[in-house]
Amino acid sequence: MKRILFIAGMMAAIMAACNGGSSRSWDETALDNARIQIGLQIDSVEGLGEQFNNPTSIQEDGSVLYCDVTDWRSGFFPGTVWYLYELTGDSMLVPYARKYTEAVADAQYLKWHHDVGFMVGSSFGNGYRLTGDSAYALAVVEAARSLSTRFRPNAGIIQSWDVTPGSEREAKGWACPVIIDNMMNLELMFEATKLSGDSSFYDIAVSHADRTLKEHFRPDGSCFHVIDYDTITGDVRHRHTAQGCAHSSAWARGQAWAIYGYTVAYRNTGNKAYLEQAVKTFEFVRNHPNMPEDKIPYWDFDAPGIPDEPRDASAATVIASALYELSTYVADGRSVDYVEYADEIMKSLSSDNYTARPGENGRFILMHSVTSKPAGVEIDVPLNYADYYYLEALKRRRDLMKSAGSVGEADH
Ligand code: GLY
Repeated sequence: MKRILFIAGMMAAIMAACNGGSSRSWDETALDNARIQIGLQIDSVEGLGEQFNNPTSIQEDGSVLYCDVTDWRSGFFPGTVWYLYELTGDSMLVPYARKYTEAVADAQYLKWHHDVGFMVGSSFGNGYRLTGDSAYALAVVEAARSLSTRFRPNAGIIQSWDVTPGSEREAKGWACPVIIDNMMNLELMFEATKLSGDSSFYDIAVSHADRTLKEHFRPDGSCFHVIDYDTITGDVRHRHTAQGCAHSSAWARGQAWAIYGYTVAYRNTGNKAYLEQAVKTFEFVRNHPNMPEDKIPYWDFDAPGIPDEPRDASAATVIASALYELSTYVADGRSVDYVEYADEIMKSLSSDNYTARPGENGRFILMHSVTSKPAGVEIDVPLNYADYYYLEALKRRRDLMKSAGSVGEADH
């Protein structure tokens, strides 16, 4: 694998951008830019040596943060390269996508937190979808087995985090915390049942989605971040937050995970209650008085310093990607409306306000995301999952345009 290949690919993207000039549509420009930036990232990763350095964010000194395989974000860079391959058709990307995916193979055996759905779904799941490689399917099923070990039958949920003696979680009084983010791990369970024929993964996913639907949501459609359960009685012990500004607040990425998670749950079950929840939570965020005009949310809708609070581009990418899918499940008038709303998010993200210049921003595509403001961790930084869901959204949009027969019509 040679750096020169990427330089050739980047040159092609740059030439396309220059030749097209102002006639290129925003989504074409977005893809040109992604190709250049991710090409530079691959080039840099390859330059670091044989062992995979997995780009995740940037640190306070401006250097790139590389995560290890146990980090919940370890599948996103491999997945980003799969999506870039899918969007560009550039087969030179495949060996890199394979190499980075296989480098995170140990994630399928991880049992001490719930994020294997993110980790293995974005890497092996996309790899299987795009190559049909049966070894990748086996990894998806193995990961579902690992995640199943965290199912707590009396509460009917998959436990998100362990609570170890002396930990901060123990100090908060938690016994079995489940975060709304966990809805994102269910896609892996649904896929694993399709691949293996073992319905237990599907059953666990449905149980988790049903209990979460009952316990995580407020009457206005917003959701709590953390629900803490008693694993013996199955009762709720606490309704808390971890990354939001208050237990009662609407942490932006949590709302995004809920919209996306219930859209996926509806796709896999046909349960209208899931669809209604996805719509209700989306309507909550779109109508929230603190949703900015450019539709990139602040990190928490109730953050006390709004408008002087950081935005969270990652939440926006997740909402946009979910909306393109959700638009296909709602009635006609609303369907167009949802696509338009997602397009507005994507145009904002693709502007200079959020898209970094080539070679800057640690070679990540998007700027301005937040991991955890309360913990003071990664505030107003690039995050690899913002890039991942941004490319996924571009891909979903392109699929929608194709099926509507309007591909090639420039939308400025
Ligand atoms: N699942 C972790 C996060 O959204 O920050």
